[in-house]
Amino acid sequence: MQGLFISFEGIDGAGKSTHIDALSRAFEAQGRHVTLTREPGGTPLAEQLREMVLQAPMDAMTEALLVFAARRDHVQQVIRPALMRGDVVLCDRFSDASFAYQGAGRGFDWHMLETLEAWVQGGDAAGAAAQTLLQPDVTIWFDLPPAVAASRLAGARVPDKFESQPEAFFAQVAGGYAKRQQSAPERFARINANQTPDAVRHEVMQALRDRGWLTP
Ligand code: TYD
Repeated sequence: MQGLFISFEGIDGAGKSTHIDALSRAFEAQGRHVTLTREPGGTPLAEQLREMVLQAPMDAMTEALLVFAARRDHVQQVIRPALMRGDVVLCDRFSDASFAYQGAGRGFDWHMLETLEAWVQGGDAAGAAAQTLLQPDVTIWFDLPPAVAASRLAGARVPDKFESQPEAFFAQVAGGYAKRQQSAPERFARINANQTPDAVRHEVMQALRDRGWLTP
């Protein structure tokens, strides 16, 4: 059985988490083995890097290098092996988040991010045994107006470095996601996240049925 790689994206407050769990159960009900993971994180080293990225102030390049370093470890240790086994990999954020947050949000150079992406999701560092660029088979993009996300985040738990950013930052991040979608429209499933959780879940399931990955 072929592995399936699905990432979940959106600005903070877009409400991805509950839907990832529901999808995991739906795939398991079809007899698939699911690897549920997240970025930054997913390995002990990458989880340490996550703590730094989400808590410590740093310049945008340092942040970009750390999220891609975490991703490299995660891809090598978890994602590629799981796909080789034929798992369904459900990943809460992947490299689109780096383009949206470090690129569009923090203003780090888009082309440098593309270079990092090619290194990290491509073959090994020496260039030997080149593997094709690893990208999700589909990216479920929870699209929500930044003002709605801001009101959802207000009052909820202690915010991390990104969650405490002003609404204008998330407007830029949302623009970054839109730009990534335009450059790979067939990979993205845009979900209108400004609906009831039930309606959102229905759209998510439908996007996967449309691709033939979940049975009706
Ligand atoms: P998030 O996925 O929202 O997790 P939680 O629901 O536990 O808060 O938090 C991850 C944060 O990291 C989010 O604000 C986006 C940010 N991020 C980046 O800035 N760059 C990246 O490459 C990734 C993967 C995440």
